[in-house]
Amino acid sequence: MDWGLKNRLSSIIKPHNNRALMLAVDHGYFLGPTEKLENPKKVIAPLLKHCDSLMLTRGVQRTSVPAETDTPMVLRVSGGSSIIGDDLSQEDITVSIQDAIRLNASALAMSIFVGSKYEYQTVVNLGKLVSEAEQYGIPVLAVTAVGKELGKDARYLSLACRMAAEQGAHIVKTYYCENFEKVVESCPVPIIVAGGKKIPERDALQLTYNAVKAGAVGVDMGRNIWQSDHPVAMIRATRAIIHQNANVDQAFKLYKKLAAEDSNRKQKSKGKKPNQNKSKGKKPNQNKSKGKKPNQNKSKGKKPNQNKSKGKKPNQNKSNKPQNKPQPKNN
Ligand code: R5P
Repeated sequence: MDWGLKNRLSSIIKPHNNRALMLAVDHGYFLGPTEKLENPKKVIAPLLKHCDSLMLTRGVQRTSVPAETDTPMVLRVSGGSSIIGDDLSQEDITVSIQDAIRLNASALAMSIFVGSKYEYQTVVNLGKLVSEAEQYGIPVLAVTAVGKELGKDARYLSLACRMAAEQGAHIVKTYYCENFEKVVESCPVPIIVAGGKKIPERDALQLTYNAVKAGAVGVDMGRNIWQSDHPVAMIRATRAIIHQNANVDQAFKLYKKLAAEDSNRKQKSKGKKPNQNKSKGKKPNQNKSKGKKPNQNKSKGKKPNQNKSKGKKPNQNKSNKPQNKPQPKNN
């Protein structure tokens, strides 16, 4: 293995314990503004120092991560289909190797859809990506995607992970399942486990523990961290399992302690804000324009509800965000 590739890999999977804590925030590439990841910058900021690496798209990296960070970036370079489109498996490579280098990617990530209509296209793309990335010493993480129509058992995941490794992927990301040891045993490269849809914190910690115990190097977790009411507490508890060999009870105890501290902090800062007014001594509802009667309006003669922007229907919204958020098919 070339020095550069080895060096990049060792920033993702820590060589002293062969473990990795990757924070996944790439969901928007097919889900749009995923619940609680509507503003990636705000989500990432407090979590960045607690993860070993961050998995994201180039758009989020450029807009939402400070370039001064020393956290390695695992750059998703595949995409093309949305949750409301015809077929999620129709993905292609969307980022050039030159741009990945400009972004100082420590690894490139893409999905393969084994058993789907676009199996051939995604698996061939993985092979090509590995060939290209290796020229520059950049490792590739293959994501074995799962969907409604694809399996999520040891037999299916062993097939998908092994295929990814055979194409030259340096790390494979997959889902935890029963008999996960079998998936790990038959995959010659390190396996990292996705968190999946949000579950109670203790269950997510149990999943992390089980995955590591079965031989995974760690987790690439998203929703179970930033959809928690206490994301920093959750990532630190997950970290305790991965890097401090904590068991589930110890990690959950840590989560509860940190979550309680977080709640207290939020409560305190809330307590300061209400009714705090810069102009001291003012009575509530005191109005700058003295003598005005309530509901007096600057623009005389206007009828109630008359609106500057003509033609707008009530509740018309400036933002183009879909009102009904699509729910992920993947989990
Ligand atoms: C899915 O394809 C995305 O790559 C996510 O990064 C992945 O699902 C991990 O996130 P989560 O823990 O939310 O499942």
